[in-house]
Amino acid sequence: MNFIATLPKPFFVLAPMDDVTDTVFRQIIQSTAAPDVFFTEFVNVDGLMSPGRSKLMKKLRFVEGERAVVAQLWGLNPENFKVVAEQIADGTIARELGLPDGCNFVGVDLNMGCPAKSEVQNGACSALIKLENRQLASDIIDAAKEGLTGRLPLSVKTRLGFNEVDMSWFEFLLGKDLNMLTVHGRTRKEMSKVPARWELIGDVVKLRDALAPETLMAGNGDVRDRPHGEELAEQYGLDGIMIGRGVFQDPYVFAVKSPWDAKTKAERIALYRQQVELFQETWQNRERNIKTLNRFCKVYINGFDGAKELRERLMTAETTGELIVLLGA
Ligand SMILES: Cc1cc2nc3c(=O)[nH]c(=O)nc-3n(C[C@H](O)[C@H](O)[C@H](O)COP(=O)(O)O)c2cc1C
Repeated sequence: MNFIATLPKPFFVLAPMDDVTDTVFRQIIQSTAAPDVFFTEFVNVDGLMSPGRSKLMKKLRFVEGERAVVAQLWGLNPENFKVVAEQIADGTIARELGLPDGCNFVGVDLNMGCPAKSEVQNGACSALIKLENRQLASDIIDAAKEGLTGRLPLSVKTRLGFNEVDMSWFEFLLGKDLNMLTVHGRTRKEMSKVPARWELIGDVVKLRDALAPETLMAGNGDVRDRPHGEELAEQYGLDGIMIGRGVFQDPYVFAVKSPWDAKTKAERIALYRQQVELFQETWQNRERNIKTLNRFCKVYINGFDGAKELRERLMTAETTGELIVLLGA
């Protein structure tokens, strides 16, 4: 059955975040308060179709018990989108990741929103919003669809525009028969510098209602927690809400009522320790830089006396073993 049809309303998604939402962190969030859908970090299809493939596969890694993982792709070559989408749909990539038969991604998302210079200067990600790149955006969507051939749903995650808000971009996207569209309420130029403009996300919903009522729409940008997301979904008629950085304030961000404020020092340390242990078990041979854990250290080692001092010691650790000792047996 099409996974999209099984989603509650509103559904909640953990936003893709590079070097953050790997299998380890997703498993932690699944254990605290799970959203309905998870996205992988973005992975480059052109890299996946090159000799560098094995190095990039870590971005797609997931384990059998993980709930609803969507693979997020970016790149430039439509043919590579087609082949990778096909390899996702037919289970080739899941098998390559060592997963048992029948265990697969639930969908594919195309990143058309990342604002980073390194991606944009090549014409990828948010650069695809530009009018001059619309044919390429169209070819990429068509190629991904051809690879999936309806076996898995296809979605696009994007921004309100490149330099300016661009409704022609949404008219175009909503003509592509997508299963889902996620709109981050800022332009590329705005990066993350201004508050997300939800009223404009609401305008895209109205366009969706007129042009493509079958396409589910999720809104994204500055959502604090589930109650806040529910309010926005109701106000703007959205099917879903995607939360990213909110998880750095509260690992229970998807809970109906978050217990995080009441968590003791010992509980906070134990949660970080759980993540460090899973990191150690998952990423061997320095597949992931241990420094990527420092971002999480700030999340968990917080809100109790002595947190700052403990954080300072933890952030100098060079190995997961050292971290575990510092976090106590
Ligand atoms: C550290 C970091 C990494 C990100 N990596 C990705 C990514 O790989 N793919 C993507 O579509 N968006 C990425 N984003 C953007 C988020 O998915 C999200 O759109 C943005 O943070 C706004 O939502 P928020 O206000 O809920 O955080 C990233 C954001 C952050 C902070």
